[in-house]
Amino acid sequence: MTQPVIVGTDGSRAATAAVEWAAGDAARKGLPLRIVHAVDRLPYEIARYPIPVEDQLDRAGRRILEDAEQVVRETHPVVRVTTALIEGDPSRVLRQEAGNAAQIVVGSRGHGGFAGMLLGSVSMHVAGQVDVPVVVVRPGVSAPHGLVVVGVDGSDEAGTALTYAFEEARRRDCRLLALYAWQLPVHAFAPEITYDIDEVRKAQEDYVADTLRAHRDRYPDVRAEMRAVCAHPVAALVEAGEKADLLVVGSRGRGAVGAAVLGSVSRAVLHHAHCAVAVVRPPRD
Ligand SMILES: Nc1ncnc2c1ncn2[C@@H]1O[C@H](COP(=O)(O)OP(=O)(O)OP(=O)(O)O)[C@@H](O)[C@H]1O
Ligand SMILES: [Mg+2]
Repeated sequence: MTQPVIVGTDGSRAATAAVEWAAGDAARKGLPLRIVHAVDRLPYEIARYPIPVEDQLDRAGRRILEDAEQVVRETHPVVRVTTALIEGDPSRVLRQEAGNAAQIVVGSRGHGGFAGMLLGSVSMHVAGQVDVPVVVVRPGVSAPHGLVVVGVDGSDEAGTALTYAFEEARRRDCRLLALYAWQLPVHAFAPEITYDIDEVRKAQEDYVADTLRAHRDRYPDVRAEMRAVCAHPVAALVEAGEKADLLVVGSRGRGAVGAAVLGSVSRAVLHHAHCAVAVVRPPRD
């Protein structure tokens, strides 16, 4: 069976942007779209005060799904669309849905949470936590720039991200910019360690050229540029993302510690990027 693109919605502005983005993605890939709304009863369960909200929540949920379906029919009428109302915690529901999805799409924020937050807990707990790519969409994104940006750092994750980015660039008929941000270690406690900065720079640029070569051969129709920059990766990626339609990162890079599933760069990029961000995890062995 063809696995659908799955989008989660709580009816919020960001979620509606996610629905539109997911419909475009499904149309480009020729995949069906499944819109999911998780009915979470927990916030309505006030301790020692039972309220009969069951029917109202289901009704509100069905309404959210109908509105989302309508958005798809208006913007991408060719897409085959289905909806599902599922009871449970939204992050858990979407992680389960990922088992039978080509990709999961969510908004950066929802209806809940503290107003100043840049990323909601559902997006945070789904991105990087499932085997399929997760795209986090920001509302209010402007006209297409014709550019896909991908961050690379020499890890397996970055290789997977690079392949994903090339596929997206080809499908969207976009340019691709692969960014490798490198920095010298801070050595306040060992100032006697010195570097030949030109040699370091040359080594970084050689690495970048090697990385891109294999992909260039596989995707001769994609106009790709690879840039090594001496900057913090989050700053470099977020800045490049200002003029991109999609920013692609691996779920975990080389600097990952312990059991963290989402690396610090991916996490920060998800918070601060101005465009849609795809978090891609390499296939399991
Ligand atoms: N009940 C839900 N069912 C399906 N998808 C959901 C649901 N709630 C959130 N989502 C998805 O997750 C995205 C981010 O929402 P999230 O809930 O993480 O942010 P928030 O409401 O601002 O913060 P929080 O819920 O953590 O207080 C939404 O745009 C939507 O795509
Ligand atoms: Mg929420």
